[in-house]
Amino acid sequence: MVTDKIDPKRRQLLQAIGIGTAALAASPAFPIVLKKEAFERKAGPAPGFTPDVEIDLIATIGQVSILPGAPTRVWRYEAKVVKGDPGAVIPLQDTYLGPILKFWTGQKVRIRLHNRLPQAHITHWHGVHTPSEMDGHPLYQVGPGQTYLYEFEIKNRASTNWYHPHSHHATAAQAYAGLAGLFIVEDEEEQKLPLPRGAYDLPLVIQDRTFTQDNQFWYDNRGLIAVLGFLGERILVNGKPDFAMEVENRAYRFRVLNGSNSRIYKLAWSDGEPVTVIGTDGGLLEKPQNLPYLVISPGERYELWRDFQAAKGREVVLESLEYAGVMPVVYEQHIQMMGGRGEMMGRMGMGMMAGMGGMEAMAMFMRHLPAGSRFPIARFAVTRTAQDNLELPDRLRSLPHYRVEETANPDQPRPVAIGNRGRRFTLNGNSFEMTEALPIETIPLNTFQLIEIFHLHGEEQSEHAAVEEAEPGRGMVHGGAMMGMRMAQMIDMAHPMHFHGEYFQIVERIPPSGHGVHSGAGYETVKAGFVDEGLQDTVTVMPGERIRLIMPFRDYKGLFVYHCHNLEHEDSDMMRNFKVV
Ligand code: C2O
Ligand code: CU
Ligand code: CU
Repeated sequence: MVTDKIDPKRRQLLQAIGIGTAALAASPAFPIVLKKEAFERKAGPAPGFTPDVEIDLIATIGQVSILPGAPTRVWRYEAKVVKGDPGAVIPLQDTYLGPILKFWTGQKVRIRLHNRLPQAHITHWHGVHTPSEMDGHPLYQVGPGQTYLYEFEIKNRASTNWYHPHSHHATAAQAYAGLAGLFIVEDEEEQKLPLPRGAYDLPLVIQDRTFTQDNQFWYDNRGLIAVLGFLGERILVNGKPDFAMEVENRAYRFRVLNGSNSRIYKLAWSDGEPVTVIGTDGGLLEKPQNLPYLVISPGERYELWRDFQAAKGREVVLESLEYAGVMPVVYEQHIQMMGGRGEMMGRMGMGMMAGMGGMEAMAMFMRHLPAGSRFPIARFAVTRTAQDNLELPDRLRSLPHYRVEETANPDQPRPVAIGNRGRRFTLNGNSFEMTEALPIETIPLNTFQLIEIFHLHGEEQSEHAAVEEAEPGRGMVHGGAMMGMRMAQMIDMAHPMHFHGEYFQIVERIPPSGHGVHSGAGYETVKAGFVDEGLQDTVTVMPGERIRLIMPFRDYKGLFVYHCHNLEHEDSDMMRNFKVV
């Protein structure tokens, strides 16, 4: 659907460094990897389920003007309310982003997904607590022309969630093509709070894209890109480049979603105001938190409070600041050597490519915006005079507090071990298997579980003992062999880990040890930007870090995936199932 024209300058560069363009030309922008017969399911309405709201959701092909000149062909969601509250679908103008779906806690929802794409597809409601077969597991993807029927009750508290593809091995390409939208839940309790509403409650969906010379999205996920994740050349906010808006000198609530495939942002205000976080993935915090900057990984949502009162007449920019320690060391060294520019390959970069087998990544490297560089995201010109303002409340709303003593396994956390097999990242020593779960991934219904995410790399070899003990023979896959070790160190990077099902709470974030591979280089550039409070479904795990969290597995049996939300990692099978029994 999207052509793959290479602009002449890039072609020359490619030729200059000895790479033919044949491979690139042959690479479809959205690779088709699906066996069509896979996992089709005919779902019909369940007897006795009476929806309050019924929506038709269409995943289809369209086009939208993003850059001056030719429109961009995109894949996008369209939706309409078939029954119930017309406010359940809020269309957005001039963007490929899907309409905002807005529901209330307690509503029963029926969504009929129509797949009008040329590939198999399934949609997932990221953050929403649904039955297994309503969650968008890749097992349930449907072929072109088919539909999938979702029926579930909204059990979440007020929160900003999102919907996006979860198609087998095609999540990244489909999301990149434009399939994504917000899924907002409202509830009575939040309505009573004095928070900015209406025009003062705004989404900021941050994504990065690379364009071909004729304004089409360019994408590849082979070779080194599958290791690093796809990094685009420019930032889009709510689907728009160079995002800028005029605001009033008053308080705003920004619902920020990192909808990028792999890029991690370090958000800060250009005027040095702290970043005031009022909510996480799972909605409002107990009280606002002020941070010097906020680290937001793919899949994560944070709600920010920003009062522009003191900035009257000025421009305030939401920026991404420099960071290190997030990407593999060789990548960061290469970018540093290139003076922070992503567009040219040095010898070392070439060596890295050759060593890691990623010729396809060349094209991305030619022009990408380097991870960890500084750039503007959104500009706010404080030109308008407000009629009124709101004070930031010191208390927002109460939260549950999950306690280690209440988990089913206080002394034996379930491991989520990040490792690798060659150039592919693994979880608990394995790649994704559609319907399989290890005993350590099999969880009794209606329990709280203590989970520990950690890296198997380098000096943490011994850690694999935990996996090995739980799962003899399935633990370590790269131990011993020098090559495997070296690869593990070479590709050690941050992973945004996401769990389907219910929100979790972080108990502890244990920093890198400070020795060996996990020297923690660069860690100090990000460590003040994590919010480990409240309810979350995605957490940034830095190299060498270990994260302990408590997650409830309530209400629904069945398969719920957990995976890295670097979508290129997800599609290269850095994903597993929890099987709730
Ligand atoms: Cu945002 Cu498994 O997904
Ligand atoms: Cu999800
Ligand atoms: Cu990852």
